[in-house]
Amino acid sequence: MIYSYIYSSASDENFNEEQLIKLHEAAAQKNKEFDISGYLTFKNDIFIQYIEGPEKSIKQLIENIKKDKRHHIKHDIVLPIREDRLFGDWSMRYIDYNSLIEIGYHELLETIFFSIDNQIFSDEEVIQKINQMLHQIASTMKE
Ligand SMILES: Cc1cc2nc3c(=O)[nH]c(=O)nc-3n(C[C@H](O)[C@H](O)[C@H](O)COP(=O)(O)O)c2cc1C
Repeated sequence: MIYSYIYSSASDENFNEEQLIKLHEAAAQKNKEFDISGYLTFKNDIFIQYIEGPEKSIKQLIENIKKDKRHHIKHDIVLPIREDRLFGDWSMRYIDYNSLIEIGYHELLETIFFSIDNQIFSDEEVIQKINQMLHQIASTMKE
C-alpha cells in the first residue's frame, strides 16, 4: 500500500541554484532512508513536489514539509492509496521545469488547482486528472 501526496508551495527564501541543489540532495538522501520516492520541480519561487511511500514515512514527511519555514503550502492533495509506486526508481528526482512545459504540465496543474478552489471539478475528477498527469510525467521521464 503506497501513500502519496502532491503540493505546490511558495518559497519564503530566495533559493539560488546552489541552495536548490543542496535541498534536493538532502531530500533525496533522506528519502532513500525512508523508502520514499517522487519528484520536485521549481519555477518562479513555486515548488511542486510529489512524494510516495509507506504510510508512516509519508505522514512524517508531510508534517516536516508543512513545518518547514523556507516555504509555505499553497495547494495540497493527499491522494488515495495506490498499489504501486509511480516513481519507484527516484528517491527524489529533480525535474527541470522546462521539460514539463512540453506536456502541458503547468496549464494542467493550474487548471486543477483553480478548479479545487472554485469547486469546479469533483474530488474524484481532481484525483483522476492528477493521476493522469503523474502517469504522464513518470512515463515521459523514463524515456
Ligand atoms: C520544497 C521542499 C521540499 C522538501 N522535500 C523533502 C523531501 O523530499 N524529503 C525530506 O526528507 N525532506 C524534504 N524537505 C525538508 C523537510 O521540510 C525537513 O526539513 C526535513 O525533512 C527535516 O529533516 P531532519 O529532521 O532530518 O532535519 C523539503 C523541504 C522543502 C522546502
